[in-house]
Amino acid sequence: MHGATEKVGVGFIGAGQISELHARAYRDNPTGRLVAVADIDPRVAEEKAKLYGAERWYTDYRELLEDESVDAVEVLVPHHLHLPVTLDSLRAGKHTSLQKPMALSADEADQMIAATSASGKLFRVFENFRSYEPFIVAKKMIDDGEIGEPLAIRVKVTGGRGVGGWIQPPPARAWRRDPETGGGPPAIFDHGYHITSIVPFLMGHVEKVHAMMNSDAAGTTGFSGSPAVVSWKHEGVDKYGSWEVVRAPELIVNTDYYGGDEWVEVTGERGVLMVTRCSANLYNEAPVMLARDGKVQRFTNMETDWGESFAAGGKEFTRAITEDFQPDLDGEEAKHCLLFALAAVKSGIEHREVALSELETS
Ligand SMILES: NC(=O)c1ccc[n+]([C@@H]2O[C@H](COP(=O)([O-])OP(=O)(O)OC[C@H]3O[C@@H](n4cnc5c(N)ncnc54)[C@H](O)[C@@H]3O)[C@@H](O)[C@H]2O)c1
Repeated sequence: MHGATEKVGVGFIGAGQISELHARAYRDNPTGRLVAVADIDPRVAEEKAKLYGAERWYTDYRELLEDESVDAVEVLVPHHLHLPVTLDSLRAGKHTSLQKPMALSADEADQMIAATSASGKLFRVFENFRSYEPFIVAKKMIDDGEIGEPLAIRVKVTGGRGVGGWIQPPPARAWRRDPETGGGPPAIFDHGYHITSIVPFLMGHVEKVHAMMNSDAAGTTGFSGSPAVVSWKHEGVDKYGSWEVVRAPELIVNTDYYGGDEWVEVTGERGVLMVTRCSANLYNEAPVMLARDGKVQRFTNMETDWGESFAAGGKEFTRAITEDFQPDLDGEEAKHCLLFALAAVKSGIEHREVALSELETS
């Protein structure tokens, strides 16, 4: 840490669309400040560094890793670069936060976990649904026994026609839809990683998965993975979950971000808990609802702006470095979420049930 303020100096590697939300974490962060930005596109590197208030910018990320004012790195690049950039960052002695999905395979995840141990630095995968307050509130309610023993979970993801929000730039869309750079059908692997993160967060680990996925999922055209229905069994218990993904092309979704939304329902022995919104606000309902004892309670006193989950997650990263704790998701938990997503893809392609353990390389 440098200077009188003793704040953690952070560098972004990759300054595309999502960096705009990560930058929010450094506007008023008591423990961290953004000092440098690297992007292979020189115009992007300079523009974003100026926009976010970073003093330096680079086009070769290795130069950012040599910058001594950078203590910690947020890796925000396309998926096929997650492994090399993360390994280089840890080996350069930088605390490292990596955007989801962790990696392209179990082997890549293992390499990251080994590099973390060797470096002695903090490593976490950043998945913003775990920093989204309605999910944090729901998790606490489940842990506090508000619905009794949780029995089942149901997730819905609906894409529509976004109004008022982002348009994904064509290059960002192109690398996601190329299996070499994206890693898998985006609805199940890229966006899907949010679901395979939030399900274990709320209900515990998953043992095996069955998926039905659009029939061109293994191809390179129409490579989206949507529509799909995924179901699973939780580890060691007779508890099941399901996740439906569908795109409704004429459905208007008012949004500040992407043109789709997610909602989740957990049924417990004596209550049903719903998180009614996430990336957008399709239902315009209370963000958390509890049906129990013959009535419905609505919980509204929480941050519901999806973009603020990035600010919260970024602040937690620099606070974790300052106070020396491990933030979500550590390498092993992130790997579990990855195996869940990979198992869903494999099941959808091979038309059979897939155990997460099958994805292990050793
Ligand atoms: N909800 C979410 O949490 C969320 C949303 C969007 C994206 N993401 C994740 O964020 C990451 C980036 O996604 P995006 O939408 O910003 O993509 P993007 O295509 O908009 O941005 C990627 C940036 O990386 C740069 N880049 C490519 N190769 C590089 C290299 N070798 N060195 C430095 N920079 C390089 C590109 O020039 C581009 O500016 C991905 O992991 C994606 O899954 C997460």
